[in-house]
Amino acid sequence: MTSLLQQADAAVEINKLQVNKKWYPKFHIAAQTGWINDPNGLVWFDGWYHAFYQFHPYSTHWGPMHWGHVRSKDLVHWEPLPVALAPEGPEDKDGCFSGSAVVDGDTLALIYTGHKFAGDSREDDALYQVQCMARSKDGITFERKGIIIDTPPGLHHFRDPKVWREGDSWYMVVGARVGDCGQVRLYRSDDLYQWQDEGILAQSEPGMGYMWECPDFFKLGDKYVLMFSPQGIEANGYHHRNLFQSGYLIGDWAPGQPFVHNNDFKEMDHGHDFYAPQSLQSPDGRRIVLGWLNMWESAMPEQQDGWSGLLTVPREITLGENNKLLSKPVPELAALRTRHCHHGITELASEKKEIPFECDAFELQLAWDTAASTAEKYGISPVQGLSIYIDNQAKRLFLERAYPEFNMEGERSIPLPDSDILSLQIFIDRSSVEIFVNEGEACLSSRIYPAEEQKEIIVFAHHGRALLTRFEYWDIQ
Ligand code: FRU
Repeated sequence: MTSLLQQADAAVEINKLQVNKKWYPKFHIAAQTGWINDPNGLVWFDGWYHAFYQFHPYSTHWGPMHWGHVRSKDLVHWEPLPVALAPEGPEDKDGCFSGSAVVDGDTLALIYTGHKFAGDSREDDALYQVQCMARSKDGITFERKGIIIDTPPGLHHFRDPKVWREGDSWYMVVGARVGDCGQVRLYRSDDLYQWQDEGILAQSEPGMGYMWECPDFFKLGDKYVLMFSPQGIEANGYHHRNLFQSGYLIGDWAPGQPFVHNNDFKEMDHGHDFYAPQSLQSPDGRRIVLGWLNMWESAMPEQQDGWSGLLTVPREITLGENNKLLSKPVPELAALRTRHCHHGITELASEKKEIPFECDAFELQLAWDTAASTAEKYGISPVQGLSIYIDNQAKRLFLERAYPEFNMEGERSIPLPDSDILSLQIFIDRSSVEIFVNEGEACLSSRIYPAEEQKEIIVFAHHGRALLTRFEYWDIQ
């Protein structure tokens, strides 16, 4: 093990003792201490799910990126492992940026972006991003193999390789910026070391962003999905409200052919905090996605507690009607349920009910009969500062958070699905909420920072009647 990796692990061992756990997740992947952002290298290898993540072990702010590492047998209990990659240079001296992992025979290969500046780090002209590889037989210690794709002439932003196997070849997509045009570039290889440029897989039309980060490309049903995180899309009404977006294009593709799609970019998640999702395929063939449950430049109040950032719960995605992705929490999460409660509330008539409750990590399942509810506004406040409600005039489902002490106020929303019953599966894990709507039709993920211990769940209906046909929850330990 090199000294930079040892130093990083030693920092984790010391700094984790200082972490205040009041907002620290109980069932999400988070760094033991320090800063994390994107999920990286999600893969099933040798009997384990592995998840890596962008990691700065020395502070709760972004810095020279390492790859943190956890593994799991079941997608829900994660075991921390030593830091996998450190910016040991020269090709990655300023950071081991995002990337992916593949199984090559008996070897786990990480393919990531080496990030370095030659000169002033504020100048794009001084930026060099190259694609690198590191390999491991035990899935824990990695041997660096250096650069496998150099920066194409004229490019500076060229990062986040995702590699997959298709027929007898390896393929790689990489995010790039050319002027103010975001691109996804495609490469092909026989051996993971030598790569041929296969051109541009997709690029932005005007208004679709100046840089496309973290591309992922995979087959789902009989279609191909390009999932990516564009920077530079303007907010438009209820859409694209966050600083950066994450979403997808669906189309048709075959090796050697263009990716044919209709430019209909759809967002993956509608909450305040979701970015840089990546996918893996489970041994039973499911396509599973995890994202970063934060947003660049948002307040992260947990920084004062010695840690920052977490990943979403694993979500299985499938192709729904009209080429829309459905996104559901993996069923493995049910293994975490402990105490089960069920409430017989069925009707609220211009009133508020408080249900005594003490837990900071739980799963809630609700169903509202939206067809029969007449209240102007009705919903639930499961923890202090968070309200999840239906605005019956706007015909939308809202997630509203109110933490003015952290300058975190405001709503995100989606149109009410076209069904009589609105079913919600909600995961709260101290400082995060994830809402899954109608069996995966939509999801909303946001960070929350309740000030007080939870004492009750509030359900309410303003000006009229609301019918709650299901209301149960489980503590999660
Ligand atoms: C996305 C991203 C990636 C980059 C990484 C750096 O959030 O900006 O493009 O590789 O984070 O930490």
